[in-house]
Amino acid sequence: MQSLIAQWHGEAVVTAYDEPTGTWIFIAIHDTTLGPAMGGCRMNVYSSPEEGLRDAMRLAEGMTYKWATIGFELGGGKSVLAVPRPLQGRDREGLLERFGRLVALLRGAYACGPDLGTTPQDMVVIARETQFVHGGARDGRTLDPGPYTALGTFTGIRAALGHLFGEPDVAGRTVLVQGIGDVGVPLSRMLTDAGAHVLLTDTVAGRAEEVARDLGGEVIAPELAYSTVCDVYAPCAVGATLNQETIPTLQCRIVAGCANNQLAQDQDAERLHARGILYAPDYVINAGGATALPLLDRGDHTEEQIRERIRGFEVVLGEIFSEAAERDESPLRAAARRVERVLAKKQQSKGQ
Ligand code: PHE
Repeated sequence: MQSLIAQWHGEAVVTAYDEPTGTWIFIAIHDTTLGPAMGGCRMNVYSSPEEGLRDAMRLAEGMTYKWATIGFELGGGKSVLAVPRPLQGRDREGLLERFGRLVALLRGAYACGPDLGTTPQDMVVIARETQFVHGGARDGRTLDPGPYTALGTFTGIRAALGHLFGEPDVAGRTVLVQGIGDVGVPLSRMLTDAGAHVLLTDTVAGRAEEVARDLGGEVIAPELAYSTVCDVYAPCAVGATLNQETIPTLQCRIVAGCANNQLAQDQDAERLHARGILYAPDYVINAGGATALPLLDRGDHTEEQIRERIRGFEVVLGEIFSEAAERDESPLRAAARRVERVLAKKQQSKGQ
């Protein structure tokens, strides 16, 4: 863990060991140039605490890029609860409360929200201990960022189709959705409603079948996710599904999904580019939830205004794709350049 932290370009990692549950807690604060850190809290069983730390650090970096892209005055941060086994009931609540107290100690330097493995209900538990939590309850109803992230992803798929085929409409296109969770479900519904042919896959047995019955999509075995012919591959589960092994086998024209850290390495963006596959940078296309959560909490935006802002991703991604095409580079580079411009401008205005 020492060398992981030493090599990291972030600002700080807050670490705790939760004795009652045997959980390692990591709060990674990557960059606060734009404002205090905010990012989701992931709960997961990792092969080692180091893997949890690594995930927190990479995810925090992604949040810096996400906030800069969507123009929020927030910094990149993320927390990981590296649980030894899936936790339920009182064990889970206890851990979340103790985590909430740790977040409270930071007095706003980091604010959390839901992510893979945590739910809006979990945020309600954390909120017993700290006000620096988003996506819990508001006016008695729980706030799920999933449908907003799904809208952003749907919008991003349109942008990619528009760039590649000159027509953003998803009707008649085949989209493979990998990971049928809080985003995968609403995304699949939007796609089917808009006339797309949806292929569903999930590593949890029966999950894709259940949703396919409801939506009328087609189920694909998990191991075929990287080699099935489709227009769009939408990774909506864990990260690093795009790597040296999978990229050569892909049979899609576009990669556009909501998972964080889709690329095992930045270099994989070049691999996709070399294969002529258009890649929608993850932190741009999946920023719908991040857009909605602070706005919902501020309470000064209507539902329609929030959705309109998320639909604006179509323009942002369109610009990123065009800039990348002009320079014959991967969209990841074009997106990163935008972020660097935003951060540099802020640094300048701070007189640093
Ligand atoms: N975890 C989601 C994301 O990475 C939603 C979220 C955004 C949660 C911002 C907290 C803060 O975008």
